[in-house]
Order: sequence, then C-alpha cells, then structure tokens
Amino acid sequence: MKLSKLTLMALIFSASAHADITLHHAITGETLDMSFAKKGGNTDVFKQFMQDGNNPYNGNKDIVEQGKSLYMTGCSGCHGHEAEGKLGPGLADDYWTYPRNATDQGLFELLFGGANGMMGPQYVNFNTDEMLKIMAFIRDIYKGDPKKAKWLTK
Ligand code: HEC
Repeated sequence: MKLSKLTLMALIFSASAHADITLHHAITGETLDMSFAKKGGNTDVFKQFMQDGNNPYNGNKDIVEQGKSLYMTGCSGCHGHEAEGKLGPGLADDYWTYPRNATDQGLFELLFGGANGMMGPQYVNFNTDEMLKIMAFIRDIYKGDPKKAKWLTK
C-alpha cells in the first residue's frame, strides 16, 4: 500500500497527540508494569499526568489537604510528619538521593515502583491518583532552593 504524504502526516499527528510518557523504575530503569496499579486511580487527572509527566494537582489547596492525610497514613511513619526524615530520608528539602525526584515524573516513578530496602512499591497501598495527591503535598511543603524545583520549570 502506498500512503500519500498527507495520510502519513495525519497518522503521525494522531499517534503523537495520544502519546503517553513511559514510566521507568527509579533504580532498575525497567518499564513499570502499570497492571499492578490499584483500581480507581485511572482518573482524568492521572491521564493528564501521563501525557507530559507534570502533576496537575500541584498548588491545589484542597488536594494538598487530601494528600497530607494520605501521607500521614502511609509515609509519615518512615519519613516524619513534616517529611523531615526519620527511617527514610527527608522529602521537603532539595537534596535527593535520586535526583529525578526533582521532577514529577521521577517522583511518581519512585513512589509507584519503590527504591531500595524499606522503600517498597507504593502501588500496594495507594492508587495512582492518590499518589499524585501525596506528591502535591510533598511539593507544597518544599523548603529547598526554588531554583532546584524542577517541577516548577516545565
Ligand atoms: C517502611 C518505611 C517507608 C515507608 C512506609 C515509605 N518510605 Fe519512602 N523511603 C524509605 C527508605 C528507607 C528510603 C530510602 C531508599 C533508598 O535510598 O533507596 C525511602 C526513599 C524515598 C524517596 C526517595 C528520596 C530521595 O532522596 O531520593 C521518596 C521520594 C520516598 N521515599 C517517598 C515516600 C512516600 C511519598 C511514601 C508514602 C507513600 C513513602 N516513601 C513510604 C522508607 C519508607
């Protein structure tokens, strides 16, 4: 079959318009298997996140409150109530063991797939939409250098 230039361009355009980002494990670099995701997390906001890797919930005060309560349930025991660090590292400063956490995509990848030791994959406890809410809370309590806040410079 011979495709006209126009058909080809239309095909490329429609493919790129729906292209999603690909998520990778923070340590192994393997593609994350999203079939592990808990039900209920594939919301419109999550779908939007999957288009460019930026968290649409950032800066939304109501969501930040919800994210805070999820964080208190699932993360504060290891990371501290103000994310100051405890068993796990602090999450409110600008030092990251894994520098990609300064981007929303990197932070999501680490939450979903986990890292080393006690930092297990969070898909066990939270759906993907809840993870974005927790991330919005973490960004909200950020105390580091604004210049290093890569998620703000899209
Ligand atoms: C059982 C304890 C535990 C729980 C629960 C836990 N973490 Fe962790 N977390 C850790 C440890 C330990 C590390 C360090 C792992 C490493 O360096 O590979 C870590 C690492 C991280 C990192 C990487 C930090 C960096 O400097 O790059 C992020 C981000 C993170 N956790 C976020 C969270 C969030 C958000 C939650 C809740 C959804 C959570 N963690 C739940 C123990 C925990």
